[in-house]
Amino acid sequence: MSVSLSAQGKVMSQLSGVRAIMKDIVETLERADKKYINLAPGNPVVLPEVEQLWRDCTHELLASKSFAEVVGRYGSSRGYEPFIDAVIGDFNVRYGLKLTRENVLVTAGSQSLYFYAANCFGGVDATGQLKKVLFPLSPDYTGYGGVSLSPDSLLAVKPNLEISPAEHRFKYRPDIDSIEIDENVGCVVFSRPCNPTGNIVTEEEVKSIAAKALLHKVPVLVDSAYGPPFPALNFTEMTPVFDEGIIHCMSFSKTGLPGERIGVAIGAPEVIQALECFHTNASLHSSRYGQAIAALAVGSGRLADIATTVIRGHYAEKLQVVETTLDSEVDDSIPWYMHKGEGAIFAWLWFDNLPISDWDLYQSLKNEGLIVVPGSPFFPGLREEWAHRHQCIRVSLTASKEELQTGMKILAKRLKEIYSAT
Ligand SMILES: Cc1ncc(COP(=O)(O)O)c(C=O)c1O
Repeated sequence: MSVSLSAQGKVMSQLSGVRAIMKDIVETLERADKKYINLAPGNPVVLPEVEQLWRDCTHELLASKSFAEVVGRYGSSRGYEPFIDAVIGDFNVRYGLKLTRENVLVTAGSQSLYFYAANCFGGVDATGQLKKVLFPLSPDYTGYGGVSLSPDSLLAVKPNLEISPAEHRFKYRPDIDSIEIDENVGCVVFSRPCNPTGNIVTEEEVKSIAAKALLHKVPVLVDSAYGPPFPALNFTEMTPVFDEGIIHCMSFSKTGLPGERIGVAIGAPEVIQALECFHTNASLHSSRYGQAIAALAVGSGRLADIATTVIRGHYAEKLQVVETTLDSEVDDSIPWYMHKGEGAIFAWLWFDNLPISDWDLYQSLKNEGLIVVPGSPFFPGLREEWAHRHQCIRVSLTASKEELQTGMKILAKRLKEIYSAT
């Protein structure tokens, strides 16, 4: 049956950003007549210690009196109270805060948080004005590309580049002077650590952005899907920032629960309340089973412990494999640069003056049996043309050490051919 879609239905019924590439990758793998090294997945590795933690918490829940209450009854839209209490208990001690239940909202994964915020604070306001959803440091998480019912509201700011040519490394820095936050902006969103780049915006930079936003009472959502205390996928020192106006957003997906869909927002009660109503209208509340086992893992301190002793080290080691293989395999004359790997589960590579587009590089590597993700979908909201956008790829650190080594060797060989052909 062909259905007639509303304007917003048309927007929401399309795959955005990297989801469209993932479809191509799945189709490639399904009809594969050869073996591929797949360095595209964003799905975290199932680590045995982490799996055991969730098994143990599940056993504890099953054996407890609360099981029937957890799965058999509706609950508060805010979230499952013992889970909220475990999070605020942990954060108040760890960061010296005074959080109460009014500061917290639990959603079905953090992706939905950005959807709620983008349409609650961004989009067309009561006077007909289009309020922006501002991404202050492009590139950033491709999933932001699909969060708004009014895609024209998405606006990203081009970064400054700090390049170390001899080391073949670089780092994006927010161009603070170019970040304009006024009454035309509905909310600000950025990931820290960043997917895809592994960048960690400094505390000073976060505070500068938050101070600009606070002048116009614009909420700043700091997407901490990879941040401490869990999953603690920061490889350099970082502390979350809890300044006024900041909504600290967490995800439990990289702590081994992507299937349970748990996102948490921590911030000012007025902002949390608006997001909570949106959440109630959309889905009443999040699943309570995942929250109940997460409450046990957070409350006992086991999750924070496993994050720093197991999860972090696993990906940090993989990052080193990518770095050392590229350093030894890629021809020094090629202008390749790896983003400083400060966190998350990806390596981000930039090839200056790349003679072909990132999409063509993706196709050409696919022909060689290597799948990476082309970089251009990671610039949602960036309106100006920028050659750099078509010169990057993302490499997932979820593959094995051997796959990463072989994959990087294939990449090095292909780069040599591509650059020497011009
Ligand atoms: C930076 C970032 N934010 C948000 C999400 C969404 O996570 P979830 O909805 O599983 O919490 C992801 C998923 O990979 C991500 O990388």
